[in-house]
Amino acid sequence: MKRVYNFAAGPAILPEAVLRTAQQDMLNWRDTGMSVMEVSHRSALFEELVQETQQLLRDMMRIPNNYQVLLMAAGGRGQFAAVPMNLLGENSRADYVVTGNWSHAAYIEAQKYGSIRRVLPTDAVDLVTIPEFSTWQLDPKARYLYYTPNETLLGTEFPYVPQVGVPLVADMTSCILSREYDVSQFGLIYAAAQKNLGQAGVTVVIVRDDLITEPLSITPGVLSYLVFRDSNSLYNTPATYAIYIMNLVLKYWQAEGGVAAIEKINQQKAQILYDYIDQSDAYVNSVDPHYRSAMNVSFSLPTPELNIQFVSAAKQHGLVNLKGHSRVGGLRASLYNAMPLAGVKTLIAFMQQFVKEAV
Ligand SMILES: Cc1ncc(COP(=O)(O)O)c(C=O)c1O
Repeated sequence: MKRVYNFAAGPAILPEAVLRTAQQDMLNWRDTGMSVMEVSHRSALFEELVQETQQLLRDMMRIPNNYQVLLMAAGGRGQFAAVPMNLLGENSRADYVVTGNWSHAAYIEAQKYGSIRRVLPTDAVDLVTIPEFSTWQLDPKARYLYYTPNETLLGTEFPYVPQVGVPLVADMTSCILSREYDVSQFGLIYAAAQKNLGQAGVTVVIVRDDLITEPLSITPGVLSYLVFRDSNSLYNTPATYAIYIMNLVLKYWQAEGGVAAIEKINQQKAQILYDYIDQSDAYVNSVDPHYRSAMNVSFSLPTPELNIQFVSAAKQHGLVNLKGHSRVGGLRASLYNAMPLAGVKTLIAFMQQFVKEAV
């Protein structure tokens, strides 16, 4: 069967070479005579896999030594709770930059654990632009400032890292490894794996040593950074296969030239798609050009009926999962690292053809 170009927002496309390696390893991983799924997480071999995976990420993101790399469970939403539980302290305060669906959901969850403020001068959720940094109302006594560098739903991305006097927490679920970041500018970065790191089940948390302290007393062990640091991410049985896939994904991208090389191609992919949309009379992207995401490109045709037709016609051409999120409708093409330039070019050619035939 022919493989399709999968534009899903997550779980998302994986490098084909990774899938082939996984296929080869399936019955006999590293000469164990077993699949990696059957190997004990307490075995020396699996511990080695965990350490190797952490080291690969350290190398690729140039993570300084005073940061821990934790491999946790419960996805992005797990971190919506873990971040406040671990960083707030009793009766403490935090600031949230709500720019879209995911930072809003994180803000709602955090309210269960402390005194949480929104800092932007708007109560809207699905923003198509990001208010100037000078308008943010920041609490100098906040325990941290939380933001989502790339909002997956509408496709808004920060072109800069906010410089603030408190630890900065970033949900990089939909942008980790998509471009170069200076990790030392952050107190904590986390990312669920199912977009740029592999498959669902494992969540990476990169956290500065001094921020790992006793969490709130109600914190379950599975969400405690202290517990995960002290058990080297093997507190309980982790998502072993997800860690294995992440290991393969990291090795693959390292061999392809690392984050600098990935970023260059990602910029090119996004540029040609936005350029095409902007010069087209039929397709519209509503995001302020300054804040457009390189990972998630939302667009729409003049009517909801045309959007529906587009999705099914695209599928016939092997271009799948182009429907926008149900919350906002329209169309969306997610261009994660594993989406090749050829996939984006094929999409643009299809968009041109669709306009000629249907609009
Ligand atoms: C930026 C961002 N944060 C968090 C999440 C939620 O992740 P999960 O489904 O792993 O809880 C998503 C999911 O798409 C996301 O895009």
